[in-house]
Amino acid sequence: MARETWATRVGFVLAAVGSAVGLGNIWQFPFKTAEFGGATFLVVYLVAALSVGLPAILAEFVVGRRSKRNVVDAFGALGHPGWTLVGVVGLFSGFWILSYYSVVGGWVLRYVAGSATGAYFGDPAAYFAGIAAGTDALALHGAFMAIVVGVVALGVEDGIERATKLMVPSIVVVLLALALWAVTLPGAGAGYAYYLAPDLDELFANLGELVPYAVGQAFFSLSLGMGAMITYASYLDGDDSLARDGLAVVLFNTSVGVLAGFVVFPLLFAQGVSPDQSGPGAVFVGLATAFSELPAGRLLGVAFFVVVLVAALSSAISLLEVAVSYVIDNHDAGRAPTALGLGASIFLLGVPSSLDLAWFEWFDALTYNLYLPLSVLLVLAFVGWVLGGDALDEVRKGTSGDGFAALAWLWTVRVVVLLAVVGTLALGLQSLVLDGAIAPPF
Ligand code: PHE
Repeated sequence: MARETWATRVGFVLAAVGSAVGLGNIWQFPFKTAEFGGATFLVVYLVAALSVGLPAILAEFVVGRRSKRNVVDAFGALGHPGWTLVGVVGLFSGFWILSYYSVVGGWVLRYVAGSATGAYFGDPAAYFAGIAAGTDALALHGAFMAIVVGVVALGVEDGIERATKLMVPSIVVVLLALALWAVTLPGAGAGYAYYLAPDLDELFANLGELVPYAVGQAFFSLSLGMGAMITYASYLDGDDSLARDGLAVVLFNTSVGVLAGFVVFPLLFAQGVSPDQSGPGAVFVGLATAFSELPAGRLLGVAFFVVVLVAALSSAISLLEVAVSYVIDNHDAGRAPTALGLGASIFLLGVPSSLDLAWFEWFDALTYNLYLPLSVLLVLAFVGWVLGGDALDEVRKGTSGDGFAALAWLWTVRVVVLLAVVGTLALGLQSLVLDGAIAPPF
């Protein structure tokens, strides 16, 4: 059977944006920005996303489109079977991250319903503590995975492309509407000030930790190191400029993160809720508190959590596709049963995380601090130093001019980006060891 492809280039870009825009943008990005000095951090992040994230996403696109194979076989197809292990690391990381990402997806499902009924309005903190882990969380983790499996089973064009073409615009429209509405809240001004006021002291005091952090965040947010972008690019046909698509994804992804901040902070400050938390508590407790106190809070809560749900789904879809792509490239297996079988395995891997938050945190810590930077490092080393000229050739397609930009890209990958990733990995390992987070929580 012929390998599937995207129907349109826009479809590919939207699917890639759908993968990139996720929980990382909505609950991580705004809070880290505020914590690390507001507008100043935004500038650092933007520089990191453009100078490190963009070259790196381009590198994954090159591997995908040039090989037109799944993440494991791509390296052999490009003539370097010795590097296959890199793809295996990516595949494994994708499995790993989806197993607990889906647990969060389950929480979000519950909060969509809980906003409609006002279930958490009485005591948001106690409500979250009650639902975060346990058999209910397990069941909703299963429900979330079932939706992901359903979309992936329909295929690249009829499932992923069609779904994300609908999902990405709806995320933007609803977030924009919420951000505009937030302007009208009394007390919103303090939220903008907190989010955007440059805090240079904070910035310089933390610079050493902040730069690798911004780089790591850019990788996670751009879905790098999990084989997702390699897999999506492998369904590309034609010779359009990959750099242009990469730039579109980076800018779009950053804009959604910034936009999320324009929703979150006015809301929190208008209700006098402390923004002093990031991660699960920020969204499921902080914002939930704001919704519980606002007029029309139910409606707003539903709108907000639907956005989070859609964003999480379109990212999860890309993660499952990494493994599905590998199996159907190699075996005479149908897409639907493959998606179902793999989805069920990922569900099982996520069982501990859904029952006990200590497992959840362990999975998350290893992702951020180890798998992600390691896998990005290996892919970049491959593209920069092994693929070299072939990569240049791929990047030059669809562009005019003397190709100097492509050469600049290659050297950026070889030196700047590699050094940045090494820094991120070192910091990650250090915090794994220092926090003792490396051992599983038995
Ligand atoms: N980029 C997604 C987010 O920001 C997470 C993700 C990482 C998705 C890796 C796919 C692959 O939430």
